Amino acid sequence: MKADVLLGLQWGDEGKGKIVDVLTPNYGVIARFQGGPNAGHTLEFNGIKHVLHTIPSGIFREDTLNVIGNGVVIDPRVLKRELLALDDLNVDYSKSLLVSKKAHLILPTHCMLDAASEASKGKKKIGSTLRGIGPTYMDKTGRNGIRVGDLVMPNFDERYNALREKHLNMLSGYAFDVSELEEQEKLWFAGVDKLKELELIDSEHFIHEKMNAGSAILAEGAQGSLLDIDFGSYPFVTSSNTICAGACTGLGIAPNQIGEVFGIFKAYCTRVGSGPFPTELFDKDGEILAKAGNEFGATTGRPRRCGWLDLPALKYACMINGVTKLIMMKADVLSYVDKVRVCVAYEYKGKTLDYLPYEILDDDIKPIYENLSPWTDDLTGMREYNELPETLKSYVEYIEEKVGIPITIVSVGPDRTQTLRK
Ligand code: IMP
Repeated sequence: MKADVLLGLQWGDEGKGKIVDVLTPNYGVIARFQGGPNAGHTLEFNGIKHVLHTIPSGIFREDTLNVIGNGVVIDPRVLKRELLALDDLNVDYSKSLLVSKKAHLILPTHCMLDAASEASKGKKKIGSTLRGIGPTYMDKTGRNGIRVGDLVMPNFDERYNALREKHLNMLSGYAFDVSELEEQEKLWFAGVDKLKELELIDSEHFIHEKMNAGSAILAEGAQGSLLDIDFGSYPFVTSSNTICAGACTGLGIAPNQIGEVFGIFKAYCTRVGSGPFPTELFDKDGEILAKAGNEFGATTGRPRRCGWLDLPALKYACMINGVTKLIMMKADVLSYVDKVRVCVAYEYKGKTLDYLPYEILDDDIKPIYENLSPWTDDLTGMREYNELPETLKSYVEYIEEKVGIPITIVSVGPDRTQTLRK
């Protein structure tokens, strides 16, 4: 059985958590493949809202196994908080949550380095979530990192102290205040104790055994394709491969074992943090989308920048991911604006570009828009695709035609039930 992949096609926050939760009954295993607590995957059902940062979004469904893959970076402090929140809801994860021994650990000093590096950049800062993601992946590729499997090794303390020392030297170069370190280390080691209670596995073997036994696997991405370290708007990106290829390296799945690739996008665009965003709105429409869409980061609470749908960017993301099915989120939010616009190309130095160019960072890139017919209906109570207004159905067909990939789900609200299959 092949593994399906679900990932974001924009700058993150597309609604991956909700859709993974909705699709989970079709799968035996949900596996996160990259990122870490910079993610905030929000799920809503039975009137309760849950935000997951490290734990796969299949955790609330019985009979589903959830794997934190080798490509993920884990902060034991955050993981412990997530686990305690599950304890409060009586969710039994003791047998359903498994952690790769090869996943790297975010140390308290990684978070300090993230903060110090951002502060040193001034106006050029990335807008990092300050969860220590960049410094942890740097230690991974620099071959200095500490992995989950190292926690039970006899030389763990020595390894930890050596890395801590290296970080402290770097932090002193930044003149960074480390007075909170002892307190944070206490929390970190308490988190480590909780992490060690989970089943630590060779996740690549586990996943292959499950696939060979006929179990359906869904690889859950974090962040979005336009934040990918290679293909995103570098340097305003995260530090992992958020694209489909990340599922191969982050779980040990071979490229020819990938099945469906579900690409999730919002009916408009949002972005948190710095970096280019050609269709960003600075007017009343932007404010309306932000308010109606409750566009605040699930991890940091920061307001998200809002803008119109960017088709060249969407097509680019579909191309590098090999998307086979599209899922459109937050169609209900566009009901609040009295126009619907879509960027179909860019104008750059007198030329029209119908693709996402390297020069995306250049302020001279201007979007070229097409206007579509708006809709004003409240969609949030609709449960069948056929109930949707004709203008929204035309919007769906327009995007399908432009991108060349079918939209199979339209989401009209955060709850599980507000998911219309086409
Ligand atoms: P980092 O991954 O925390 O280093 O942040 C790098 C950039 O990616 C910043 O612009 C963040 O706002 C953005 N980012 C990281 N994770 C997410 C996410 O889950 N959703 C949206 N943006 C994110």
